[in-house]
Amino acid sequence: MIVAIDGPAASGKSTVARAIATELGMAYLDTGAMYRAIAVEAQRRGIALDDGEALTRLALEAHIHFGREGGSGLATHVEVDGRDVTAAIRTPEADRAVSPVSAVPGVRAAMVEQQRRIAGREHDTVLEGRDIGSVVFPHAELKIFLTASSEERARRRTIDMERRGAGMTYDEVLADLRRRDTYDSSRSASPLLKAADAIELDTTGMTIREVVCAIETLVAERR
Ligand code: CDP
Repeated sequence: MIVAIDGPAASGKSTVARAIATELGMAYLDTGAMYRAIAVEAQRRGIALDDGEALTRLALEAHIHFGREGGSGLATHVEVDGRDVTAAIRTPEADRAVSPVSAVPGVRAAMVEQQRRIAGREHDTVLEGRDIGSVVFPHAELKIFLTASSEERARRRTIDMERRGAGMTYDEVLADLRRRDTYDSSRSASPLLKAADAIELDTTGMTIREVVCAIETLVAERR
């Protein structure tokens, strides 16, 4: 079974998808981490963020690996060509670089191909991103579109950033989310959009537990 969870930045996709995968014994794939890994590696190699050809070559060549500490449970770190980028992909610099990189059609094609291959190895997988229900797995058994008001999303992401010591203010986080939402929704290659058959869940005012339970009920119905 494929569970596709799409939605704008900081709508809670990762937290919710990880909880569902753990509780229901499904595999989990964070596709945003893959685009972030390519963006970070492009910066390390000095590739210009508007050089679509070089970015596409990088996306085709780079080996992205999700590692698990102790070999069990969900992935705890991300590597590109053997280099650990777990922390680097969550910095404000990575937030800024990822939108232009993920707008390159060749980069998307390379990532989508890998995502289908990774999920194809597993029996049941929860994938989260922007285009899972619309492009990567249009026939997913369950498609969820998670939203929340931009203020609520900025509040959640500011707490995340504080935990990581990134030191961004609420206003900076809100501006970054709005910029990324606009960029992700208006790009021509697979823009962020709700698939016609996706179930929209507005999580403003809902607890994580409430969101997880609502989706798990839907999984049980579709299984
Ligand atoms: O966690 P957050 O919602 O901030 O972002 P993310 O899910 O890690 O995704 C980071 C960026 O990758 C997004 O802003 C999109 O530009 C891009 N992305 C995408 O284009 N397609 C996906 N399937 C997943 C992410």
